[in-house]
Amino acid sequence: MRMHFSLQTTICLVASACGRSVAAQADYTNYVNVFMGTTGGGNRFPGVVAAPFAMVKLGPDVQSGTTDAYSGYLPSGNIWGFSMMHESGTGGAPKYGVVSQMPVVGNVSNPLADLSQGRAAADQGQIGYYKSSLTSGVTVELAAMEHAGLYQYSFPSGSSSSVVVDVSHVLPSFRGLGWEQHYSGGNFTYSSDGHYEGSGTYNNGWNLSPDWTIYFCGRFSQQPSSMKTFKGTGTTLSSYDSTPSVSGTERVGGVFTFTQTNLTSRVGISFISSSKACENLDREIQESTSLQSLMNNAKSKWNAQVLSKVQVSGASDADLQLLYSSLLGMFLIPSNRTGENPGWSSAEPYYDDSFTLWDTHRCHTALFHILEPVAYEEFIRSLIDIWRHDGFMSDARSSNYNGRVQGGSNQDNVLADAYVKGVRGAINWQDGFSAMQTDAEETPPNNHDPKAPDSSTKEGRGALPDWLKYGYITPAFTRAVSRAVEYSTNDFGLYQVASGLGNSADAQKYLTRSRNWRNHWNPAATSNNHSGFVVPRLANGSFVAQDPLGCGGCYWGDAYYEDNPWVYSLNAIHDVYTMKKFIGGDDKFVDRINKLWDLKIFNAGNEPSFTSPYLYNFVKGKQYMSVQRSRDIGKLYNSGAAGLPGNSDAGAMESNILWQMIGLYPMTGQTTFLVLSPWFPQLSIDLGNGRRLEITTTGGNKDSAYYVQSLKVNGENWTKAWVTYQDVFASGGTMEFVLGSTPADWATDDLPPSPASGDL
Ligand SMILES: *[C@@H]1O[C@H](CO)[C@@H](O)[C@H](O)[C@H]1NC(C)=O
Ligand SMILES: *[C@@H]1O[C@H](CO)[C@@H](O)[C@H](O)[C@H]1NC(C)=O
Ligand SMILES: *[C@@H]1O[C@H](CO)[C@@H](O)[C@H](O)[C@H]1NC(C)=O
Ligand SMILES: *[C@@H]1O[C@H](CO)[C@@H](O)[C@H](O)[C@H]1NC(C)=O
Ligand SMILES: *[C@@H]1O[C@H](CO)[C@@H](O)[C@H](O)[C@H]1NC(C)=O
Ligand SMILES: *[C@@H]1O[C@H](CO)[C@@H](O)[C@H](O)[C@H]1NC(C)=O
Ligand SMILES: *[C@@H]1O[C@H](CO)[C@@H](O)[C@H](O)[C@H]1NC(C)=O
Repeated sequence: MRMHFSLQTTICLVASACGRSVAAQADYTNYVNVFMGTTGGGNRFPGVVAAPFAMVKLGPDVQSGTTDAYSGYLPSGNIWGFSMMHESGTGGAPKYGVVSQMPVVGNVSNPLADLSQGRAAADQGQIGYYKSSLTSGVTVELAAMEHAGLYQYSFPSGSSSSVVVDVSHVLPSFRGLGWEQHYSGGNFTYSSDGHYEGSGTYNNGWNLSPDWTIYFCGRFSQQPSSMKTFKGTGTTLSSYDSTPSVSGTERVGGVFTFTQTNLTSRVGISFISSSKACENLDREIQESTSLQSLMNNAKSKWNAQVLSKVQVSGASDADLQLLYSSLLGMFLIPSNRTGENPGWSSAEPYYDDSFTLWDTHRCHTALFHILEPVAYEEFIRSLIDIWRHDGFMSDARSSNYNGRVQGGSNQDNVLADAYVKGVRGAINWQDGFSAMQTDAEETPPNNHDPKAPDSSTKEGRGALPDWLKYGYITPAFTRAVSRAVEYSTNDFGLYQVASGLGNSADAQKYLTRSRNWRNHWNPAATSNNHSGFVVPRLANGSFVAQDPLGCGGCYWGDAYYEDNPWVYSLNAIHDVYTMKKFIGGDDKFVDRINKLWDLKIFNAGNEPSFTSPYLYNFVKGKQYMSVQRSRDIGKLYNSGAAGLPGNSDAGAMESNILWQMIGLYPMTGQTTFLVLSPWFPQLSIDLGNGRRLEITTTGGNKDSAYYVQSLKVNGENWTKAWVTYQDVFASGGTMEFVLGSTPADWATDDLPPSPASGDL
């Protein structure tokens, strides 16, 4: 098989110049670096994901001292297996890394021993393909479909070839935070025809999930010369022989030995049963299916469903690589598990691996909606169905279990964002609103999380008792202040949907509640010439003295989660006019945003400050400052392995840079998009059903002359620093920017709306 990595395909980059059929055939995967964001804390998964949202994510599991391998992959270290399930871009602790195989040269004397191997060369990958060369001389090539994977092994000649299937294989965590996964038992059976089936059960991980089970079914291209099963604890075998079936809470698995040096292994997985795993395998990867055809299939799916949705002209190769590698990173998770839900049977779609909406609701879900409207509608339906059957929607979810909740019930913001932008389809919005009301009115049972024992970290809003009683959250609850700011945005989401459904009493109630972040505002709290910050507040109404630059450990048990009062004081994005007034007017507001940089508070790699750089658009004449920040943030990204400024966070980080390229930024939960400055002479987004948003820039460029001089939207002069979903996305549209090297006072018309502010 010949592997080609050159950019030899002719790419059609200008939509208008090539027409849709030609564009659909272009191979944008040539611009994708699957290793983008895999190092430097990005934690992205580089292995095989055959289509956006595919359930199987097949890749290597690497050991390197006590470094956690969140996606299985690490650039250096020994490979100890290639497994079928992974997350991408997550933090906390590794999840999955299950259903593995490990190739071993010769006979295997102890399958429980450390069988890991170094790499003889750096791993290689492209969309739909992954290759590792081990120091043992074995080459492993991987390809996949949505529910099945293919391993193509080439062993050195002169010895037998073995494949070890260790059911107890699961990614470890060394952080000592109590979030490590555990194997709790398994089954393994081989048949005389050489195939095997079984299941593994695991628990815990970041979301503290109880036992969950994955089933598997494996077939080889050749009949093994020997088949064995094993059981044992640690590295001590209790049995290792030709018994066809083993099960129990000990480590279990099988060893298959072959006389041939080249062999192919196909594995299907299912959450339902091992026979469903076999069905999934036999439907998706037959004996005759070649690795090359699977790879081509993956490329055409990613091209058609994702990459071709955004076409640009006039971009450098580096920017094309950043664009398309970022698009890949956006849709590796969640996982479409429709038909694979062990929890309940339902006609609704089922998505898992939201890890997490706390990260993605700010700007990822708004782009998810625009680029993948079919999947997005399914995703929203799945969230509502999770509420129907599990009692609460998920803010985060994996292995079919809700958790963890870092702040508010941010799925409320996601539903509101979808609702106000007209996402309807098969969504039952009455149920959607009821699900949001469960978040807003029902305190979830305490799951007694050691990191935050005060209230639920599984789902819902644990600090709801205070929120309902005081209109703020006292220090009786951990993360009180950051949760209060998020609960305000969540209640704003309920206001949005209630208004749309014509439910005016609820709309008024939740609009009022959405202003409760103000109850944490202590005008007397001061820092660096600024006064007024959100601070902790006691039941008797007194504010607690709080240095706005501090946040304790900024973690689960503190008053603020992952950021400080300076940042959270700018997060009531539905009530910006009030923030401006509290901060002291336009000039102070501009200086407040500037201070995020002057005081080195701003962290492009952390979501709570994602929106802050563009709030300059809420001050007349200052849109250019948002553009300046946008360009500065753009410099922190590239398509390299360390090219993300932080954890990918399920693609949140990638969606952020894509918005900078587009030149817009969404105000989640509202129809508003703040206008920035697009990167390219032409950028065209396929919105489906023949609709497109065509964005052009003239007179300037990405790197120096990038200030907006004037803008036309749909051919009309435009003097507002914002557009709505209706203006440019609902039916498509055009945005024609004239750029230049010095700021121009072009946005002289109305400021962006601040819907919760009322009359000030
Ligand atoms: C490996 O195992 C096979 C099958 O059990 C056996 O025939 C062969 O002798 C073994 N080779 C060595 C080197 O032990
Ligand atoms: C083995 O599989 C059976 C049937 O799926 C299941 O009931 C049993 O709990 C499994 N055993 C272990 C140890 O996982
Ligand atoms: C085994 O696979 C390798 C790598 O794909 C290939 O170079 C070699 O020709 C194959 N050998 C046989 C015997 O098919
Ligand atoms: C999700 O998976 C189901 C079942 O495989 C499939 O019918 C559906 O089209 C998938 N959704 C998307 C957006 O691909
Ligand atoms: C605060 O204001 C004073 C007086 O205007 C100025 O000298 C000082 O530099 C300011 N400090 C900061 C951190 O902005
Ligand atoms: C509220 O309680 C705190 C701590 O007990 C106390 O210091 C403060 O004076 C009280 N405030 C009021 C208004 O009673
Ligand atoms: C649009 O702006 C251009 C350039 O500023 C100006 O010449 C033209 O008259 C404007 N058109 C309208 C309809 O206002």
